[in-house]
Amino acid sequence: MKVLVTGGTGYIGSHTCVELLNEGYDVIIIDNLVNSKKEVVDKIETITGKKVKFYENDCCDKEALRRIFKENDHIDAVLHFAGLKAVGESVQLPIKYYENNLGSTLSLVSVMKEFNCNKIVFSSSATVYGDPEELPITELATVGGTTNPYGTTKYFIERILKDVSIANKDFSVVLLRYFNPIGAHESGLIGENPNGIPNNLMPYIIKVATKELPILNVFGNDYDTKDGTGVRDYIHVVDLAKGHIKALEKANKTVGVNIYNLGTGCGYSVLELINTFEKVNNVKINYKIVDRRPGDIATCYADPKKAYEELGWKAEKYIEDMCKDAYNFVLKNQ
Ligand code: NAD
Ligand code: UFG
Repeated sequence: MKVLVTGGTGYIGSHTCVELLNEGYDVIIIDNLVNSKKEVVDKIETITGKKVKFYENDCCDKEALRRIFKENDHIDAVLHFAGLKAVGESVQLPIKYYENNLGSTLSLVSVMKEFNCNKIVFSSSATVYGDPEELPITELATVGGTTNPYGTTKYFIERILKDVSIANKDFSVVLLRYFNPIGAHESGLIGENPNGIPNNLMPYIIKVATKELPILNVFGNDYDTKDGTGVRDYIHVVDLAKGHIKALEKANKTVGVNIYNLGTGCGYSVLELINTFEKVNNVKINYKIVDRRPGDIATCYADPKKAYEELGWKAEKYIEDMCKDAYNFVLKNQ
């Protein structure tokens, strides 16, 4: 079965390509390399011992998409990871985010229609839940209370894909709402190491561990949580990647829209993550408590039951694995 992976050289896309190849899928990647490197293709091939077809193109470019669909007749399904994801930047540059994230999705679904490709798995986010009314968060929770343009693109794309499925009764959409992906492949060949000053907690912890940054700012210790710091549902990226295989199987068997949370169901505080990282990697993380970050919520963790019951998927790795694998990747690639 041939699958097109948009954003396949990115952090989550690359790990998913590995799992797809291990399961025997033919993988075609389209990525414009705006936030990743072409070498990732070689790394994916080294890990799996299998070949991947790579196109350096923009998903907004319908002509490029048409060429890919023509050359790879017949693509059965699309896993759509391509997108810009920096929350802060999206507040500064909303048009760029709407153009890229919505534009790429609209071009994609329109070309999919031309080539009679009716299955899509989309990378959505727990951010669509906004500040949750109840915990753990189920897929039935209210969506749309997003607090930044990035989050709003996820909410809008969910709506677009739902509308497409109403118009086309053969269309099958799986919306995966990721919680907080961290960690890396155990080989240390692929993982996450953003350029510049990271926005997210784990990449920041790592840059303090490697002494590229002097100290971690912990954003607030006065939340109503176990130790006052923010609580999140961190999920190992390999578990997340495996969830995509199950989602694809679901898309193959059904039509309409299916929505799943991909999280562990466990919440860890910022201080717990720091302590675990220090323990398993035997390093010291300097940190100081600073003011809350605007837009942050206190607590966010998934109810992952639906994914288990309907997809037979559950996260298997622990917070210790996530901390160990994330650091291993960076040490091997310094
Ligand atoms: P990433 O930036 O590592 O990967 C995204 C990839 O898409 C990059 O390789 C980038 O070059 C590519 N890309 C962006 N715009 C493109 C375009 N117009 N055409 C072609 N390629 C394009 O990010 P990631 O962490 O792997 O995230 C993958 C997806 O999952 C994104 O849609 C993201 O919003 C979503 N998501 C990520 C997280 C997270 O915390 N990492 C959480 C929830 C949802
Ligand atoms: N944090 C710090 N210091 C930092 C960075 C983060 O204390 O330098 C804290 C935050 O306040 C929060 C926790 O660490 O309590 C996690 O923050 P992240 O920035 O790593 O993750 P978020 O939960 O804020 O958001 C991430 C992605 C979003 C996505 C969301 C849910 O950035 O795009 O997870 O999937 F929508």
